[in-house]
Amino acid sequence: MTHKICMTEDIPEREARAFDNDKGETIFVTQRDGMFYAYKNLCPHLQVELEFLENQFLDQDQEFIQCSTHGALFNVETGECISGPCLGESLQKVELRIHSDGGIYLS
Ligand code: FES
Repeated sequence: MTHKICMTEDIPEREARAFDNDKGETIFVTQRDGMFYAYKNLCPHLQVELEFLENQFLDQDQEFIQCSTHGALFNVETGECISGPCLGESLQKVELRIHSDGGIYLS
């Protein structure tokens, strides 16, 4: 089943937005170098949501995904934790499909 969550222009480069999937889970989508990446909104450290402020999933330099609870940093492209208490663990990746109409779909 496919589920359209937004259009590509809704996610500017180096920004992120949260959405609910059809299982009622929160995911977030971010754009980096023209590619879109999505992960479940769950920190592998304590299984809590990552953001403190709405749609604030990136660090101050907008370089890494950051957990607001203990500051873990995650690689945008792979979801791997590269600093913090869950070093070496990863965010759960969510597969996306981009349609030619510019829609972003969960596959
Ligand atoms: S809960 Fe995310 S780093 Fe601790």
